[in-house]
Amino acid sequence: MKLTATTDPVKARKGRALVLFVAEGETATHPLLPAFDNLPQLAKAAGFTGKKGRVATVAMAAGKATVPVVLVGMGPRAEVTDEWLRQGAGRLVKQLEQLGATACDLCMGVGAENAEDPGRAVAEGALLAGYRFQEYKSEPDPDYTPVTELCLHVPDERLDCAQEGLAFGGLLARGACLARDLANRPGNVCTPTHLASQAKRLAKGGVKVRVLGEAQMQRLGMNALLGVARGSAQEAKLICLEYAPKGARETVAVVGKGLTFDSGGISLKPGKKMDEMKYDMCGGAAVLGLFSILPELKPRQRVLGFVPSSENLPDAAAQKPGDIVTAYNGKTIEILNTDAEGRLILADALAYAATFKPAAIVDLATLTGAVVTALGHLATGAMSNHDPLRDQIVAAGERAGERCWPLPLWDDYHKAIEAQTADLQNIGDGTAGTISGGMFLKEFIGETPWVHLDIAGTAWGGPEVGYYDGKAAAGVGVRLLAQWLMDRG
Ligand code: BES
Ligand code: MN
Ligand code: ZN
Repeated sequence: MKLTATTDPVKARKGRALVLFVAEGETATHPLLPAFDNLPQLAKAAGFTGKKGRVATVAMAAGKATVPVVLVGMGPRAEVTDEWLRQGAGRLVKQLEQLGATACDLCMGVGAENAEDPGRAVAEGALLAGYRFQEYKSEPDPDYTPVTELCLHVPDERLDCAQEGLAFGGLLARGACLARDLANRPGNVCTPTHLASQAKRLAKGGVKVRVLGEAQMQRLGMNALLGVARGSAQEAKLICLEYAPKGARETVAVVGKGLTFDSGGISLKPGKKMDEMKYDMCGGAAVLGLFSILPELKPRQRVLGFVPSSENLPDAAAQKPGDIVTAYNGKTIEILNTDAEGRLILADALAYAATFKPAAIVDLATLTGAVVTALGHLATGAMSNHDPLRDQIVAAGERAGERCWPLPLWDDYHKAIEAQTADLQNIGDGTAGTISGGMFLKEFIGETPWVHLDIAGTAWGGPEVGYYDGKAAAGVGVRLLAQWLMDRG
């Protein structure tokens, strides 16, 4: 989708829809929209009041042609946030798709009061809404016409800011769509080897990729990760990425769980919805999505990425409950449930990442079902050994429209993961499941400031919000990480 901004007034042209974002209770007019005298009356006749979430399409005569005018309700003017613009742009694109309109001219007329970056929000909402995963459809959907062009009409003084916003939002959305593509691919295609080869394709524009296979991991003593991979015919990988701009101010690391299918292993999961466990690599997808845009985003940090990747399957060679493994940092782990595998592959990846002495580590992982009980699908659980860093991440998430909410990692929670015969056990005592996961990871991070993001609730299955259908992968994490890097300066 081509996203542009202009100061030209909107001209009614054949084949293009006109769009107006309208605040609740306000008249459907805009200085840059041509004098369609009867638009307010048509809006009224359609029962359109500007109520948040409502969309109405009216047909306007323009010379000999009739053009569709799409009205998007934005709620009370003073309350319009970036998230509402994002959702409005998403609903708009869905409406255009239904109308079969491929291009539109958009006048916002709202957002100046309360939104931070309207152009960015519109770009994100439009591109994310226009996303479709059709790699496995043998025939293209005959009823689907993609929106290929969106032109934002703004007053003179807002042009630069709108253009910058569109470019920034467009970039972040493209990163998120790459993460969606990887996550939506089925487990028989998206294997650890597939993720590694996709990572290598990103190796351009200052991104370096190195992939450790099982033999190398064995030499390094990454037995927690290798234990998980024992039941799988697919070779496990540790994908390592590096973006190193000249004169970087600091090094930070991002780590993403890349479990390409989680059956639970010997502690087998129930069959219901087990197919969704192909999404258990969404943390890794977020890291790869981020790296795909770093050369264009140009943050000032050196960024290291780590994606531990494996399947978790039952097999004669599979790891069993009661097994004990020694992780990369020397700690021993008693495996009490082979389904708590994410923390095992992350343990080695986090301890390895820490050896590069980054100023901060952020990990993203679909780690626990318990986080859905705690926060639903509306927020990512954020746990940390460093409050200021956690606050940074929460703030970046708020700005990026990917909310995170803190959970504590007090020492008092440690008791639950102390094992009888090893240093640690990989499950807690049945309470505070998400925190037990965080407490476990904390044992592998050392002194490095670190935030653990449990995205099991936000990676897929949230509510429909215009730019996301609530079903397949959401592409969560890319916008948040990009925002965090830019905010760190
Ligand atoms: N990948 C799952 C977590 C998950 C569950 C994500 C449901 C999204 C939806 C993880 O590997 C897992 O199985 N966790 C267990 C941990 C338990 C055994 C301590 C869980 O949450 O049940
Ligand atoms: Mn599991
Ligand atoms: Zn898992």
